[in-house]
Amino acid sequence: MQPRTLYWILLFGGLAFLCGCDRLPGKPKEKDRWKPPTEIKDFAELFNTNCRGCHSNGKTLGASISMNNPAYLAVIPKEVMQKTIEAGIAGTEMPAYSAKTGGPLTDEQITILVDGIYNWAKGREAPTDNLPPYSAALGDVNHGKAIFAQDCANCHGSDGAGLKGKGGSVVDKVYLSLVSNQYLRTTVIVGRPELGMPSFRDDVQGKPMTPEEISDVLAWLASHREGPAPGQTAPKGGPASKTQTSNPIE
Ligand code: HEC
Ligand code: HEC
Repeated sequence: MQPRTLYWILLFGGLAFLCGCDRLPGKPKEKDRWKPPTEIKDFAELFNTNCRGCHSNGKTLGASISMNNPAYLAVIPKEVMQKTIEAGIAGTEMPAYSAKTGGPLTDEQITILVDGIYNWAKGREAPTDNLPPYSAALGDVNHGKAIFAQDCANCHGSDGAGLKGKGGSVVDKVYLSLVSNQYLRTTVIVGRPELGMPSFRDDVQGKPMTPEEISDVLAWLASHREGPAPGQTAPKGGPASKTQTSNPIE
């Protein structure tokens, strides 16, 4: 065969592949075709590929807090959720997603994620009465110790080191070096219902914990840390203050 003929065969073959493959058997449907990751606009796909490995969608179990929890969505302000996804939480496993800072997701995709997550609570919104603030400074360590004995010890042990079959250690140094004070606060407020950890409302005392009790018990938990809390940037000239919460947004 002439090299020229071969060239045409290849050229037409290529064109047929580019334009004519619509009728080939087994051809992927439009929605299944490969798209650049920045073109993905489907909430479920965005959540499954980016978040579900660590946060439950309500059907799976995640190592970190479930995003499909109306009580959580009632307490975390939408703009904080958005900023957290954009910037991540320094010193923890929570990655930064904004393309503006080198992450994989566009602003539009982050908005789709945030809206989709809040849509999970549509029609099953949690009550907002007595709701403590999402973020607050740590309270009083000694009072927090008493609150822990009263509200938490029956599952986590009087020293916080855990009770077999009820709750794990919440004073473990490695655990505390991996999570921010905000995360501890979030879990105390909304619980981990999928794991049996109650929210501030289903408190063992039969009444919701007050915002003061929450901040105090967090001060006691945080007092078991050895180094600075993850999630806060150390101020110039010294390690992060132990008396501040770790709101990643500040
Ligand atoms: C009814 C039992 C129960 C009570 C009461 C309880 N917890 Fe828990 N807690 C759990 C269980 C179960 C888990 C999940 C398994 C684990 O990590 O131990 C958990 C998890 C946690 C976690 C880890 C959350 C995470 O995602 O990393 C923290 C922190 C925590 N509890 C703090 C507290 C504090 C503080 C109190 C009191 C205000 C409290 N718990 C009261 C059962 C309880
Ligand atoms: C590799 C694991 C991992 C992935 C993937 C991940 N996260 Fe996280 N995320 C975490 C951890 C761990 C924390 C707790 C960090 C801390 O200690 O404050 C967290 C915290 C958060 C918080 C704040 C929790 C609070 O305290 O209120 C939000 C909101 C959040 N993640 C949303 C997302 C979304 C949405 C995605 C997907 C775009 C995602 N995360 C992907 C691990 C992950």
